[in-house]
Amino acid sequence: MCRDAIIEPEFLSKGVAGDDERFLFAGLPNEAMDFANEAALQQWAKAAVAPRLQAGDVLLLDGDLGAGKTSLTKGLAAGLGIAGPIKSPTFTIVREYTDGRLPLYHMDIYRLENGGAEDLGLEEYFEGDGVSVVEWPEFLGLSMPEDYLLIQLVKDEVDDNARHITVTGHGTRAETLAEAVTRS
Ligand SMILES: Nc1ncnc2c1ncn2[C@@H]1O[C@H](COP(=O)(O)OP(=O)(O)O)[C@@H](O)[C@H]1O
Ligand SMILES: [Mg+2]
Repeated sequence: MCRDAIIEPEFLSKGVAGDDERFLFAGLPNEAMDFANEAALQQWAKAAVAPRLQAGDVLLLDGDLGAGKTSLTKGLAAGLGIAGPIKSPTFTIVREYTDGRLPLYHMDIYRLENGGAEDLGLEEYFEGDGVSVVEWPEFLGLSMPEDYLLIQLVKDEVDDNARHITVTGHGTRAETLAEAVTRS
């Protein structure tokens, strides 16, 4: 079951975030985890991350186009028991899946690279009864949540199928989650 949140196109052109509003990646990441292929990455998301998620958790997925942000989200969805299919929300900004253990709010805010994220009320998702997953979190601007798990994905320079992942918890809840998902 999936429903696209209704977001009017005019929101997409509003406002330009100044540099001072830009999201800065800070904090010390846990050690990088290496995944040889997509199946291994999805299995980690499904078996190590999804079972530990709680309502109100926010996961920010950072990485270039094709790094595997949507692919990782598919693993999370599978682990939450969502039947799918999970489609990239690039054009809808948010897709909601409500047939799993917890609601999944999958956001792709790439189209908000010139600002405007603040107008969408994403905080309601972050503080809601589900798990929020955000692709391109650098465009959140002032809508950055206080407590979030940052997952950074980097493509291997040689092997097209390999990825390197670092997980960083910001805030009390996310730090606990970061420890748990990197030690399993
Ligand atoms: N280890 C891996 N993890 C994730 N995706 C991989 C991996 N190896 C290859 N891929 C491929 O890379 C692409 C990742 O795409 P996608 O998840 O849409 O990226 P993003 O959402 O970060 O732009 C997919 O075509 C996927 O099959
Ligand atoms: Mg994507």
